[in-house]
Amino acid sequence: MLEMQSPPGPQTVFNGKSYLYFGGTSYLGLAGRAEVIEAGCAALRQYGVHSATSRSRFGSSPPLLEVEAKAAQFFGAEAAFYFGSGYMTNHILVAALGEGVEAVLVEKSSHYCVLEAARLLDVPLVLFDCRIEGDLEKCLGSYRRVLVMADAVGPSSGKIAPIGEFLCVLKHLDQATLLLDDAHGFGVLGGDGRGMLDEFGLWPKVNGGEGADGVRLVVGGTLSKALGGFGGIIPGTSRFVTQVREASNYFDGASAPGAAVAGSSAKALEIVLAEPGLRERLGENVRLVKDGLRALGLQVPDGKCANFGVSIGGVSNMQRLHAELLERGILLPYVGAYSGIPAEGVLRFAVFANHSQTQLKRLLSEIKTVL
Ligand SMILES: Cc1ncc(COP(=O)(O)O)c(C=O)c1O
Repeated sequence: MLEMQSPPGPQTVFNGKSYLYFGGTSYLGLAGRAEVIEAGCAALRQYGVHSATSRSRFGSSPPLLEVEAKAAQFFGAEAAFYFGSGYMTNHILVAALGEGVEAVLVEKSSHYCVLEAARLLDVPLVLFDCRIEGDLEKCLGSYRRVLVMADAVGPSSGKIAPIGEFLCVLKHLDQATLLLDDAHGFGVLGGDGRGMLDEFGLWPKVNGGEGADGVRLVVGGTLSKALGGFGGIIPGTSRFVTQVREASNYFDGASAPGAAVAGSSAKALEIVLAEPGLRERLGENVRLVKDGLRALGLQVPDGKCANFGVSIGGVSNMQRLHAELLERGILLPYVGAYSGIPAEGVLRFAVFANHSQTQLKRLLSEIKTVL
């Protein structure tokens, strides 16, 4: 078992040894950045571990409000709701989206938290497969008022949801909401880094906006992946964010997020806002790695996602590749089982904005050697 013994970053210490690291999620390279760590320490010293009360009582301390203000600024939204875990994002959102819904349809490869959240609604749950043409339409049957849920970006596959196809089907219904978990798109995709729907030019229409083709668009995510902080985030119009807070018991029933993670999250967002070059650098790094892998004859998902999975010849071969790279000082995880990946698993790549070109080229040349 490898034990992480330093902050995550291009070089990360496991079991006493520093590895060139391509795992996890800190895509913009902020989780280990000195200012982000220092801001967390300062908030911890000033406000204690946490406010020891819920947000709805007296728990809305300055670092939490700062996270929400900075997140709203980053997403170009009127407001944002910040809470303790990205895993809870869909659980919180569905509480506000269930009214009048006859059925919830969930893309079958969605993250565990999407499937769990869908079960909270007391209506039939139908799984559909977005890789099968026409499956969403078929699964809709005679339902006319639905909630459809999916990952915007597969966590280990890096595959992008076919949003255009979803909208094409859903626009014919009486009432449809498309809820996307954009944990891995926030901070990476789109002209302003606002995620998958920004990439598709739909950003202003989400979370209280006008929707698209008569379909209500809802998206949530996390600060714990690209954005270098920690905790769930739901940006939107003030009205939408208030509705979401009030519909869920989370605001009232959970301790407010810890001061240290809030202080770090606020600082990370400040850096993301001040340094758009980070995202450009990430884009260049992703391109370099994907092009390099394709040049080795490997099949790599299209798109700009910083996380993606590659299948290379079955379980034992991928375990061998992982082990041989490890011996060469490179940690590229083999993920054997996770939502949305084939049964044999994948080698899961995570590219960071602060990987140097030299480090990326070393990864490619070592893969070429061990293939
Ligand atoms: C698609 C997706 N949603 C939600 C989460 C949970 O987010 P967090 O790790 O911030 O709790 C993950 C984590 O891997 C994820 O991949």
